[in-house]
Amino acid sequence: MSSTDAANDYELSTDPARLDITAMHAYLTRSYWSPGIPFDTVERAARHSLCFGLYEKATGRQVGLTRVVTDHATFAYLCDVYVLEAHRGRGLGKLMMRTVMAHPALTGARRTMLGTRDAHGLYSQFGFGAPPNDGVLMQILRPDMYRIAATA
Ligand SMILES: CC(C)(COP(=O)(O)OP(=O)(O)OC[C@H]1O[C@@H](n2cnc3c(N)ncnc32)[C@H](O)[C@@H]1OP(=O)(O)O)[C@@H](O)C(=O)NCCC(=O)NCCS
Repeated sequence: MSSTDAANDYELSTDPARLDITAMHAYLTRSYWSPGIPFDTVERAARHSLCFGLYEKATGRQVGLTRVVTDHATFAYLCDVYVLEAHRGRGLGKLMMRTVMAHPALTGARRTMLGTRDAHGLYSQFGFGAPPNDGVLMQILRPDMYRIAATA
């Protein structure tokens, strides 16, 4: 299936009412970045974010997501980007990124960030690059917090 076909068979929506939190949690809890994430954390994060749900038109099923943490003016952080395995490799990740980056709430952001382990080649097609190693950016990162909480 070409990416043009994919664009016809799928749609993106920012309507929070369409989000399938159960499907999102099922993926995110087995993702490499948020293993063990609790259901109510996924629900709360979605409620306070600008979420782009990816839906298969034929079934109405949610098959992907990009969640954007943003003030709708100056800053945006892209996270929880996924396409379910059965739907990968047909241009949906790029369709999602094109749609996200063109959204009016995000086009005025002075800084747009994300973190990725291995998908640099996807994001570089949309203008992302590594931040300069100049000591400007700082962070607090607790990568195992959900797994630790689940086993405590
Ligand atoms: C990353 C992901 C969303 C891409 O979705 P997809 O629908 O398969 O992607 P597309 O078909 O639109 O193609 C992605 C493009 O990015 C490139 N790419 C670079 N790194 C990639 C990676 N790690 N995974 C997938 N594609 C990658 C592909 O080669 C392709 O480029 P091209 O078509 O211009 O040659 C999907 O593979 C996924 O859900 N992966 C698991 C979750 C994940 O790693 N998310 C990103 C976290 S930052």
